[in-house]
Amino acid sequence: MSPSAAHRVELDLAERPFTERGSRLLVTAEPDGLRVARAEYETRLADTVELAGLVLRDADGHPLPVRSATPEAVEFAGGAALLFADPATLVLAGHDVHASWRLPDGTGRALALDGCHVLHGPPGEWSAAAVRAAAEARWAEWFARMPAVRPDLAAAAGTAWWTLAVNLLPIAGREGLVPSKYGYVGVWNWDALFHAVALRHADPALARDQILLFLDHQLPDGRLPDVVHEHGVLADTTDLPRADHARLAEHVGTANGARPTPEPVPVTKPPLAAWAVWKVHETDPDLPFLAAAYPRLVRAHRWWFADSDPDGDGLPEYLHPYSSGLDDSPIWDHGPRAEPPDLNSYLVLEADRLADIADALGRPAEAADWRSRAAAHTELLVARRWDGTRFTTLAAGTPVPVRTALDLMPLFTGRLPTGIATALERTLRSPAYWGERPVPTVAFDDPAFDPEAMWRGPVWLNINYLLIEGLHRSGFPDTAEELSERTLAMVRDGGGLYEYWNPLTGTRAPRATSGFGWSAALFLDLARADRQSDCPH
Ligand code: GLC
Repeated sequence: MSPSAAHRVELDLAERPFTERGSRLLVTAEPDGLRVARAEYETRLADTVELAGLVLRDADGHPLPVRSATPEAVEFAGGAALLFADPATLVLAGHDVHASWRLPDGTGRALALDGCHVLHGPPGEWSAAAVRAAAEARWAEWFARMPAVRPDLAAAAGTAWWTLAVNLLPIAGREGLVPSKYGYVGVWNWDALFHAVALRHADPALARDQILLFLDHQLPDGRLPDVVHEHGVLADTTDLPRADHARLAEHVGTANGARPTPEPVPVTKPPLAAWAVWKVHETDPDLPFLAAAYPRLVRAHRWWFADSDPDGDGLPEYLHPYSSGLDDSPIWDHGPRAEPPDLNSYLVLEADRLADIADALGRPAEAADWRSRAAAHTELLVARRWDGTRFTTLAAGTPVPVRTALDLMPLFTGRLPTGIATALERTLRSPAYWGERPVPTVAFDDPAFDPEAMWRGPVWLNINYLLIEGLHRSGFPDTAEELSERTLAMVRDGGGLYEYWNPLTGTRAPRATSGFGWSAALFLDLARADRQSDCPH
């Protein structure tokens, strides 16, 4: 598709606010006019309103409604426009127009608009024509880089590509992509890796920045933090916002006598960094990047075995719900510590990718060692966790009955014995997981399945993406492609880049956020016209 077609992204000023790359300002339409609020870490937009009730009127006092909103401008009837002059500055441009709005303290402001005026931001003189031309050039340049996709996916891909741009914010000295300016204003660990997967096609340096942002904040013990935000990092439970403690206390079970402890517990995210580093390197080879990342990836990998394997059986566990990335999964109804089969599958793949990196850096002996670790770890996972029909999930050391999509994740290793890989693929294709919109995060026929509750049934694109790769790697290309097609169709037809979808209806689950980074990133990566030439190994 041509970049100009992708360019026609319509903003509804609700799910798609008027905002800019690098800007914390969000302009949304409210019943009493436009509102400008700031996106901040763990803060509700209602608490960061900069101005509200913005209304434009003509000389006779008739309201001038918003006529259109695009990435470049909000256009009002009568010719006035709202534009970003820079990430901190919103200007109103027009003639013979009266603008009024309210400040957070309730006081009113008004302006007889005749030219270009700063609505919000430092005082300054701006030329409307120059501001508009710069916005148009900026967005044309961004859309010109969008990976080519097939025509039926073009509209959704344009929205996805816009989402990735506006979710970029300066964080910790780099440009970081936040999961959503609605609610997730920081850079989250595995989100950053998924974002890098899409950015590698258009801007590999920006993709590498997403990964480096985490490697820069590695802790002395080797762990990578869960979140890097403008005030610091979230790397253990003492860093959690207070509201999260209350939420966790409510939903994390106390089965098996295990309780959330007052002691600090490390908080991270699933180990996929070497996977992402290698994907970026495959698209845009960069040996100095590999060389800088490798020792840090090795330390991060070792952390799981040294510090996250409380029973010492060689199969690490998640010590906190957030570390799994599946915060609200029913797995956590059974206790605050768990070992679903995804974690050790990721660790196998990480060892294989560390081998690839070691090879690329000219260290064949280390590469061979990583590959033998990957093989041995797969054997251990199968020996200890395959019960003849499924991989079991342990919570605080005890098997739990809940069946989740993570049970299928050992496919991601590409190293399973054929009989087991085939059994997992059949389970995926069975009514437990396969519907018009696979893959539910909890099996359709599990008592805990809920189509709308976070991680308790809805479809999430990262899980689908990892399973699609795993199916390819394990020798099931047809199922992989069918899952990919169904995933793309669900996003295309569902109306937005949501955080997660109801698998029964294909619509947004009510509490899911919008403008979600990894949904945008992974949709685009799957939608790429040249994807068939990739061969996930
Ligand atoms: C939610 C998800 C987690 C994700 C984070 C940021 O907490 O459960 O996996 O990393 O949001 O998107």
